[in-house]
Amino acid sequence: MEGRERWATKLGLILAMAGNAVGLGNFWRFPYQLAKNGGGAFMIPYFIALLLLGIPIMWVEWVTGRFGGKYGHGVLGPTFYLMSRESVKPRTALIFGIIGGMLAFSVTTLLNSYYLHVVGWSVAYTYYSATGAYYGQNTVAFFINHVNNLTAVLASWGLAVVLLAIATSRGVAKGIEAWNKVMMPLLYVFAVVLVARSLTLGSPVKPEWSSLAGLEYIWKPDFNTLSQNFFRISLAAAGQIFFTLSLGMGIIQNYASYVGKDDDIALSGLATVSLNEFAEVVLGGSLAIPIAFAYLGPEQAIKGGVGLAYMSLPNVFTAMGEAGRLFGSMWFLLLFFAGFTSAIAMYNYLVALLEEDLHIKRTLAAVIVFILYLLLGLPVALDGTLVYLSELDNWVGSYFLVLLGLFDIIVAVWLFKPKNLWDELHRGAYINVPTFFKYILLIATPIYIALLLAGTTYDYYNMGAFTASKTYVEEVLGGSYPDSVPIVTWARVAMIAILIIGALETYYSIRRKYGEELKQNRKIVVAGD
Ligand code: PHE
Repeated sequence: MEGRERWATKLGLILAMAGNAVGLGNFWRFPYQLAKNGGGAFMIPYFIALLLLGIPIMWVEWVTGRFGGKYGHGVLGPTFYLMSRESVKPRTALIFGIIGGMLAFSVTTLLNSYYLHVVGWSVAYTYYSATGAYYGQNTVAFFINHVNNLTAVLASWGLAVVLLAIATSRGVAKGIEAWNKVMMPLLYVFAVVLVARSLTLGSPVKPEWSSLAGLEYIWKPDFNTLSQNFFRISLAAAGQIFFTLSLGMGIIQNYASYVGKDDDIALSGLATVSLNEFAEVVLGGSLAIPIAFAYLGPEQAIKGGVGLAYMSLPNVFTAMGEAGRLFGSMWFLLLFFAGFTSAIAMYNYLVALLEEDLHIKRTLAAVIVFILYLLLGLPVALDGTLVYLSELDNWVGSYFLVLLGLFDIIVAVWLFKPKNLWDELHRGAYINVPTFFKYILLIATPIYIALLLAGTTYDYYNMGAFTASKTYVEEVLGGSYPDSVPIVTWARVAMIAILIIGALETYYSIRRKYGEELKQNRKIVVAGD
């Protein structure tokens, strides 16, 4: 398609994709998921999910993205429509387009609306570390004070969103690619320096507390714990694979839509997974948990939960004395780079949507998205209890991803037809994907994901998520019953409203581009190769 933006260089593309995938998921979410789900027990289903879900779906999303780009689309609605059309009539394909467009829209608006706050915390904490602000303080109280300090929250979150707007408004190559080319190498350097420090800590507090014990907790397979909690741990592991690889969000497809139609995607997709997993299991796994093991002991490290990165580690930096200011700043700056380069992908999805569906210029689109994120992020900022954030995370950041993953398979594998998918994957490819992966993709992945969705639904039902029961509000969201219920209700109103807007927007955009096809209910448009 004439005039569509492209990545400037191969290296830039790979770094941008790595930036997309490597996020707070790797350094903040992964450690606490690990700790919550039994360390070495978690890693077993984690690697299985990587093989059966992560790698295959990553390829599927790259294929989807490059395919859409060929027709000038960087968003999921019209792309899903075109792919489904290979098997069903345009009017039926429209339904799949609407589902995909609606889910991707709600993820890119709502997931980012709270994710940007976690990015904002890392901005503030970089500053707090450099100035030693939390030294000598109760770090839990310090954190709670921070999230309730509206000025500090607005300033740090606002700064992050302004920088995103600036970067995105400059375009794919000059903005996103250029910023990733600086931030990603720095991220890896910082992480390696911190890992080196982490692994040489020895036993600074008690002889039996060490970072190596932390590594052992992660790497020693624990079949016992796994078999006792098989269901829960497997779901959590698969959920983490989706989150960390940015799958089921629409943003891998969006980045892949700026790849040339004959450029490699097979090796590039694999490179994305590899760079992300290196950052997650090797680097991410050697930081928060092992460091906390050495300074705070196994018990504290394991029950650190969501607060591990922001509440427990500041104690560690304090214990390191003056040097802790440097390491603390590095840690939070690392979180900032990780979060920023992921958030920019969500940002760009919405900019692409405005550009392509409504023909709004990129610079103006970037401003509109900026305003949208400020509005959607405001309730997150105002709710110091974080119940609103947790409720969104529970649905949009977990459930929706798996749901969209299922539609990835239905649309891009089945309706698009396995042969087309396999051919597309290999067009211009630098590697040949082994045939057994075809079977994984055609058989194992769909079964796995269907089970996963059924299991998750059952799990959500059991914990009372559908009705917002007392246990759900208190134990899952960490709120208080019944005071937090209105906040939960508001979060749900926001989700439903965004889903409806996403569906209408997608319907409108598909009809506008493919109206004639829909009217005649037969295929007319072919790719502008
Ligand atoms: N893979 C990203 C991460 O690990 C997922 C993500 C992207 C989340 C963009 C939010 C916004 O953090």
